[in-house]
Amino acid sequence: MAKISQRTIDEIYASMKIEEVVGDFVSLKRQGSGFVGICPFHDDRNPSMHVTPRLGIYKCFVCDAKGNAINFLMEHEKISYPEALEYLAKKYSIAIEYERPETDTEREQRTERESLYLVNEFAEKFFMDQLRNTEEGQLMGMSYFKERGFKDSTLDQFHLGYCPEAWDTFTKEALKQGYQEEFLLKLGLSHKASNGKLYDFYRGRVIFPIHNVSGKVIGFGGRVLKKDEKTAKYYNSPENEIYHKRETLYDIYLAKKAIRAADNIYLVEGYTDVISMFESGIENVVASSGTSLTEEQIHILSRQSKNITVLYDGDRAGIKASLRGIDLLLNKGMNVKVCLLPDGEDPDSFAKKHRDSELKEYLEQNTTDFLLFKAQILSEDAGNDPVKRAAMVSDMLKSIAGIQDNIVRAFYVKECARLFSLPEETLNTELKRVVWANMRSAKNNPVTSAPETTSPQNPFPNLTITTPKQAESHSNKLYESEKNLVLLLLQFGCYEIHIEQDGEPMPVRVDQFVCDELFKDNIILQSPVLSRTFDHYVQSAELLKDQNAIQRALLMCEDEEVRNFVLENLPTEIPSVSPNWKDKFEVLISSMHDNVLVLQQEVQNVLLNLKLRVVEDTISYIEKQLQQPDIQEEDTKLLVGYMCELLQTRKAISTMLNRTVS
Ligand code: CTP
Ligand code: MN
Repeated sequence: MAKISQRTIDEIYASMKIEEVVGDFVSLKRQGSGFVGICPFHDDRNPSMHVTPRLGIYKCFVCDAKGNAINFLMEHEKISYPEALEYLAKKYSIAIEYERPETDTEREQRTERESLYLVNEFAEKFFMDQLRNTEEGQLMGMSYFKERGFKDSTLDQFHLGYCPEAWDTFTKEALKQGYQEEFLLKLGLSHKASNGKLYDFYRGRVIFPIHNVSGKVIGFGGRVLKKDEKTAKYYNSPENEIYHKRETLYDIYLAKKAIRAADNIYLVEGYTDVISMFESGIENVVASSGTSLTEEQIHILSRQSKNITVLYDGDRAGIKASLRGIDLLLNKGMNVKVCLLPDGEDPDSFAKKHRDSELKEYLEQNTTDFLLFKAQILSEDAGNDPVKRAAMVSDMLKSIAGIQDNIVRAFYVKECARLFSLPEETLNTELKRVVWANMRSAKNNPVTSAPETTSPQNPFPNLTITTPKQAESHSNKLYESEKNLVLLLLQFGCYEIHIEQDGEPMPVRVDQFVCDELFKDNIILQSPVLSRTFDHYVQSAELLKDQNAIQRALLMCEDEEVRNFVLENLPTEIPSVSPNWKDKFEVLISSMHDNVLVLQQEVQNVLLNLKLRVVEDTISYIEKQLQQPDIQEEDTKLLVGYMCELLQTRKAISTMLNRTVS
């Protein structure tokens, strides 16, 4: 897509009024020189959101959502930066000018896409009309839907339709209305027979139109009416410029609102599963349409909510095959839960057989954590076979290694240790290996290693406030602790300290000691820049044995943010090649040797501080979990036990810190 010109962007920035943009979605009341309203980003009854026209910003004092009109649109509507610009351009009647004129092919592609949407729109209306207003539609299509128990209002909400039996009812009408044969074929609505005649692909089928996130019809699923082995149950649209199976989620458009309200997504397999759940009052549901989830689908889902509950049919076949796809969800930072339906039921049949309240209750009571579910399945499967059990453990660790959050990861290691009756240390050591292997393969694979390629570079040139999404999610204290650790490595990583082993002082390099300690406790730095600086340090330290050379290497590394971080924070001067630089350097080193005890203490301090932060964050995370109203007794017990250990650890660390400080 052509880039929107800076002139247009400037015009949009000059025209947009924060109170008008927010006011489109939130009712605002004047207060002083600004406005207040109920914040849409968290559950609230009080007007905690303040809108300040003078600064062009909104800010919620409860959930800390803040930003300008564009941030608001991106967050609230879950749209991209260019989409937000387009929204505003439309709102303020600004003609969008592109960076350079569209090329002929771009214009052709654009108009072709637009034509394809128009043809689909026509087809959708045609099929809807056939179902409702023709005798055949009533007799065949409508009675099929009635038999399945679908309500009239549902048929309308999902735009369900019917395509007549006859050879080419649809195609003939479409051509008569001036839609081009080429597009009908491309969309798969019409096919060409060997005699050259066009016929309706979906003839004699009920139609499930498929919409994209913004509600445009991108394709169709057509279901046969009778059980008939001769033909596939569903016919689906072929891949084309507007229909990409990998990016398609059935019902995402209708479910969007409910997903955001519930902050959870139910994932099912089929069209009818979605519709039946929807009819039972569960509207935050989408279908993967019978295939395993793709990265593209996950990306779309994660913009709506980070929480997903996968519903499994009661028969266990296929569960194991789908486990991999779910690991992918974890890797993308989603919180995954699963719910297993009773034997022989799918969401459609279960919803039909039970009252709305029963379905709700079943979902609430039978939803479990995905990893624990996976551990159970694998464990049952492996039985007592030691080889299978070893494979199972490594499979579990691969899943756990994908989790981004230290605290959550530590929790799972603990749980797995319990489930598999293995020492936690063994799992941690093994996990360390997997994490390293992942890091290495990520490095060899630039596509996955590129940090956050989806966010455009500096999209907010005029803005000083960060959006909630971009805001550092970890506490400032944690950041400071991590920063101290990285700076320690940058300055003194190659120096030796002495640690006590079997009563003997053992020399060990600071960086080795620090890495070992972090791995032992399963700590990974949370700040993206610091974590990348750390990685670069470790990489350089493997090759270069000299502190100065490592510093230089980091100052020249290809990661600009890392470079800048090192440049800004390295307090010591890089010795320049002046006649006496070597002497100065020697002095520095020898004085450090005299101060090896000081360094030792510094290393201890920095590590303990970081551990204390991690422990404290874990404690407050658990406190929050314990306050959840729907927490189950078994979980409470587990968490409380974990909490006790953490409190003891915290006390021990504090004592040690006080000692080294004093
Ligand atoms: N599917 C498909 N082609 C098939 C069978 C299935 O594309 N021949 C996809 C459809 O998207 C379908 C999903 O896989 O919705 C799940 O399949 P299934 O459970 O068999 O279909 P349902 O939608 O549940 O249909 P029904 O309840 O009518 O059997
Ligand atoms: Mn089904």
